[in-house]
Amino acid sequence: MRDLPAACHSLNPSLNIVPVEHRIARCDRERKNQQRGGVLWLTGLSGAGKSTLAFALEEHLFRAGMQVYVLDGDNLRDGLNGDLGFSREDRRENIRRAGEVAALFADAGVLCIAAFISPYRTDRAAARDAAPGRFHEVYVRADLATCERRDPKGLYRRARAGEIRNFTAVDDVYEPPEHPSLAVDTTTGSVERCVTTLRDYVETHFRLPAAPP
Ligand code: ADX
Repeated sequence: MRDLPAACHSLNPSLNIVPVEHRIARCDRERKNQQRGGVLWLTGLSGAGKSTLAFALEEHLFRAGMQVYVLDGDNLRDGLNGDLGFSREDRRENIRRAGEVAALFADAGVLCIAAFISPYRTDRAAARDAAPGRFHEVYVRADLATCERRDPKGLYRRARAGEIRNFTAVDDVYEPPEHPSLAVDTTTGSVERCVTTLRDYVETHFRLPAAPP
């Protein structure tokens, strides 16, 4: 290992980690992209419509010229988080990793749309802390009866039959956001209407005016 001054060791005594700085400032990346980097964090029950809205919004914003990328719970659990299940601890680690990755996207000047059940407030607060000032929480609201009726993956049926344990809102809790930046209700609103609401929110909070020539 490289020999480091004692002061550097004190930054992270357990790992001897020393932060290094990028040469490109975040504001320069944002000016180039004409947008702010940030995290649009979609939380809600399984079947509430998070992924549907996230990918529809991504497509719309991409076609409108924005740098945007979706992190989705099901996809991340197939790779980076493939070692995690659905215990309290595993969900915390799932959201911790997702929050850190989303923060990297935000730092790169990209709008990261993160779609995770993320049932626990403390875990979502930790994801917020990973991207201070750039984390926007969106509650994708749908009542349990509606989600169960939709049951797009047949998981509620299996959870009710006792084949899946710790299923959110069946035999595990979901803690709704208390003060979300935005809420969309997929029980009362169509996908198109919810995407329009999200799109307007993004245009207001993330789009930057074109730089003068
Ligand atoms: S989270 O709770 O840790 O945030 P995440 O969003 O990554 O969950 O993954 C949720 C997806 O995992 C669901 O859409 C569903 O397809 C699947 N899943 C499998 N088991 C469970 C479970 N016990 N509770 C909730 N979702 C589950």
